[in-house]
Amino acid sequence: MGRAFVYVILGGGVAAGYAALEFSNRGVSHGELCIISEESVAPYERPALSKGYLLPEGIELVLGTRVISADVRRRTLLTAAGETISYKILIVATGARALKLEEFGVNGSDAENVCYLRDLTDANRLVDVMRSSSGGNAVVIGGGYIGMECAASLVINKINVTMVFPEAQCMPRLFTPKIASFYEDYYKSKGVEFVKGTALSSFDMDADGKVVAVNLRDGKRLLVDMVVVGIGIRPNTSLFEGQLTLEKGGIKVNEKMQSSNSSVYAVGDVAAFPVKLFGETRRLEHVDSARKCARHAVAAIMEPEKSGEFDYVPFFYSRIFALSWQFYGDNVGEVVHFGDFSGNTFGAYWVNKGHLVGSFLEGGTKEEYAAIAMVTSLKPAIEDLAELESRGLSYAMAV
Ligand code: FDA
Ligand code: NAD
Repeated sequence: MGRAFVYVILGGGVAAGYAALEFSNRGVSHGELCIISEESVAPYERPALSKGYLLPEGIELVLGTRVISADVRRRTLLTAAGETISYKILIVATGARALKLEEFGVNGSDAENVCYLRDLTDANRLVDVMRSSSGGNAVVIGGGYIGMECAASLVINKINVTMVFPEAQCMPRLFTPKIASFYEDYYKSKGVEFVKGTALSSFDMDADGKVVAVNLRDGKRLLVDMVVVGIGIRPNTSLFEGQLTLEKGGIKVNEKMQSSNSSVYAVGDVAAFPVKLFGETRRLEHVDSARKCARHAVAAIMEPEKSGEFDYVPFFYSRIFALSWQFYGDNVGEVVHFGDFSGNTFGAYWVNKGHLVGSFLEGGTKEEYAAIAMVTSLKPAIEDLAELESRGLSYAMAV
């Protein structure tokens, strides 16, 4: 049993959706392109977990179908249902999976009131658990994106939140201590409590297998109605291990998003691609890069002679409560903070080896965000950090 396609997109997330849109814009014939996804719905915008599906017409959708093995030499995929699907060109868009507590030696992830958040099924479940915990207590494990965004949503839904994470500050991958301290103070003003520098050691369950308390390594015990876990992700590369070159935990691709096998491309969270601005390969876990590298891969596949180099400036953002920030570039080197940290608009520049390489801004206008994006893409030489600090946002606005 089997089917054959010219193009197969493996995965049904953001990168898959944008690759399909780009194929559709450029024109694919009926039956030429297939998307295989383990999820039972068409690709959708993950950040909003909205119901606006990213599905153009004329594409074969193989949903609710897990691919269990891949043979890149034969150009075939085997599904869990036993079907072999062959391709001429494969786009791997398998994204990543949420790390489970079990990987850190704690059991209980399956309990009905412990929630993860990666896909629509998780989101629906989280909403159900949140509704049944109204007025109660939640512990949020992890101080990264999921932790910060879910904590804000829980508070808005009238649930008392305690955040627990092992580091000394929230968002340790991106924020400076000064930036983190602003957001933590803001969260505290909304009633969120922080327990930092420790991790979960175990759950206490009731007779129905529901978590009733969280035990921490520092000896604290927190009573809970629900738990949200956001402790990072692992890219879904296992189908290709031993067959494709991997780097930085992802599938290594060139500037055309082509892997070490010329018939296989990789896009989104699973791809490690060359970021020209930094002169090195990076794997990014954000929606803007998923969208843009997916479109670039399809352009490179369909019009290789016309598709230029992929010149991408990393862009991350978040919106929580009434706050909103954007970040462009890289957070390495020396940091210069600017603006009013007790007010609404402040930010930071990162200067590495004499050049501005990264910019962060909270509470900016559209023009101000465009200015920090532009200045970062130009990587200007910075001679005087004190002058940059005193000019602050006006430096970016003048470029
Ligand atoms: P994604 O995870 O979206 O899709 C992978 C797909 O592959 C899934 O459909 C999966 O089922 C499928 N799959 C995997 N293995 C398979 C197999 N063997 N067989 C079949 N199918 C398989 N970023 C940002 O910049 N700003 C934001 O505000 C947010 N907000 C946000 C909120 C939430 C709740 C999450 C979980 C994530 C974000 N992100 C974000 C991150 C962003 O959503 C993420 O970078 C993209 O979804 C990555 O897109 P991919 O398509 O690579 O993976
Ligand atoms: P993350 O990498 O942002 O944060 C993980 C956090 O987990 C760390 O900051 C740390 O505090 C904590 N942690 C690690 N090990 C721990 C342990 N043993 N016990 C307790 N805490 C531990 O990952 P995430 O928040 O889970 O987000 C998942 C993915 O979703 C990421 O790729 C992220 O980029 C993406 N996402 C992005 C956005 C956005 O860009 N606005 C929003 C939501 C999710």
